[in-house]
Amino acid sequence: MKIGVLISGRGSNLAAIISAIKYKKIPAEINCVISDRVSAKGLEISAINKIPAIFIDPKGLTREEYDHLLVTELKKQGVELVCLAGFMRIISLYFVRSFPNRIMNIHPALLPSFPGLSSQKQALEYGAKVSGCTVHFVDEGCDTGPIILQKAVPILEDDTEESLAKRILAEEYKLYPEAISLFCQGRLKVEGRRVRIV
Ligand code: GRF
Repeated sequence: MKIGVLISGRGSNLAAIISAIKYKKIPAEINCVISDRVSAKGLEISAINKIPAIFIDPKGLTREEYDHLLVTELKKQGVELVCLAGFMRIISLYFVRSFPNRIMNIHPALLPSFPGLSSQKQALEYGAKVSGCTVHFVDEGCDTGPIILQKAVPILEDDTEESLAKRILAEEYKLYPEAISLFCQGRLKVEGRRVRIV
């Protein structure tokens, strides 16, 4: 299975996926990493691990024009699964339809709670006692696609946005590789909104 990972920044989930592949927990290889930001630290992580990494500049392009470039590159690399890992752009219907049920995302909350940006802050401000992380397939909405795996993380009395984000991230590093591995083994069956693990 050939994976393409899209990033915009730090790339710590990318690092977790690379490590899981290295330790044979995911039967796949990362064929390319693409960033929409030239300064993304994840590009360095790719280079250190000898994974082809490219920056595609969104400047001056419409969402559709940009996504055409992305899809062309991903197809050129023979990518079969696209993993969004801190990719800070909303993707177009064209992109979603180019990889039906073949684009995954990780979100730092238990969807459908706290979609969009600053999910940890949203959870704290709401006064929730539990948050967590979700791996889901990407559809045309924002954080609305069929849910693959979720992991709950308790919110503690003295949590700050940073402390909560850190504990959620520790779970993200396990959950995302697990979901990718299930996909690569052909064990995810999408039936409407539900994803069955077979
Ligand atoms: C993670 O919290 C992920 O859930 C969200 O964006 C963040 C990316 O962090 N989608 P990193 O770039 O993987 O370190």
